Amino acid sequence: TLWREGVEAVIAIGGGSVIDAAKVASVIASGGGGFKDVFRGRRPRNMMPLIAINLTHGTGTEIDRYAVLTTDDTREKHGLDIRYPTISVDDPIYTISLPKDHTIYTSLDAFYHAYEAATSNYRNIFVETLSREAIFIIRENLPVLLKDLSDVERRAMLLYASMIAGIAIDQSSTHLNHAIEHVLSGLEPRLPHGLGLALTGPRVVYYTHKVRPIESARILRTLDPNIKPLEDDAEKAMRTVKEFQESLGVTQRLEDYGFSEDDFKKIYSYLTERLRYLYEDSTPFQISEDIIRDIISYAL
Ligand SMILES: [Fe+2]
Repeated sequence: TLWREGVEAVIAIGGGSVIDAAKVASVIASGGGGFKDVFRGRRPRNMMPLIAINLTHGTGTEIDRYAVLTTDDTREKHGLDIRYPTISVDDPIYTISLPKDHTIYTSLDAFYHAYEAATSNYRNIFVETLSREAIFIIRENLPVLLKDLSDVERRAMLLYASMIAGIAIDQSSTHLNHAIEHVLSGLEPRLPHGLGLALTGPRVVYYTHKVRPIESARILRTLDPNIKPLEDDAEKAMRTVKEFQESLGVTQRLEDYGFSEDDFKKIYSYLTERLRYLYEDSTPFQISEDIIRDIISYAL
C-alpha cells in the first residue's frame, strides 16, 4: 500500500535482504501491481528514488541491479534484474557491529561474486580486473580483521572489495554456485547465503577451473601463486579455496543444516525446473545430474 500513502522515496538501511526488499518495494510503489507482476518483468517508466544505506560488506546490491527474494508460499528464492539504487552509502563505520560469523559469510559472498563473475560466460577483462582485485583485498584484509572486528580500516577495504565485486556481477553475472545456493537457502532459510556458497563453492571451483583454467588461475593466484592455468590444477584450485575458508574457521557442512543424500532429488529438480535461468547461460560448463550430485555430496 506504499504508493497510496503518498510516499516519494524509499530508504533502505540494512544488508542485502533489506536493500533487495526495498528495491522491489520501490518498484511496486512507483508503478503499482504486486510481487508477481515485478517477477514477470513489470517495470514503471518513472521509478521513485531509492536510497540504500549498506550495512554489510558482501552483497554488492547497493551497486548492482539485482534483487534476490524468496516467495513465502513456494519457498522459491529468485534472482531478479530489477533496478539500481539512486544513491548508495558504503560507510565502513556502519559495518563495525557485524558479528564475526557474518563478517566471514558476507566477505565470502563477495569472494564468490568475484570468482563467478570472472569465470562466467559473460566475463570480460574489466570484470576480471575487478574480481582479481576484490579477491586480493579479501585475502589481505579478512584474516586480519577477524583478530579485531573493530578495525575500521580493514572494514573499509572489505567494503570496497564487496562493492567492486558487485560491479563485477553487474557487468557479468554469477553462475552455478549462486544458483545452487539459492536452492539450499530457499529450502533452509537458516543457512546464511555466504556460508551456503562456501559449502559447495570449492567443488564448483574445481569444475570451473577445468574449463576456464586461465581465468580461474589468474584470480586464484592471489590465494596461492603456484596455481597453474592448466586443467590439471583444478584439484589444487579447489583445495586452495577450501583451505582459505578453513583458515577463516569455515568448517560446517550441509548436514549441519539438516540436509542429507535423500534431499538430492528435491534439490536437483528445484534447480533444473525453476532456477535454470540463473545458471544455464552463464555457467562455463555443461551441467549434468552427475555433476550436481557430486557437488552436493561434496558439501554434505
Ligand atoms: Fe551473493
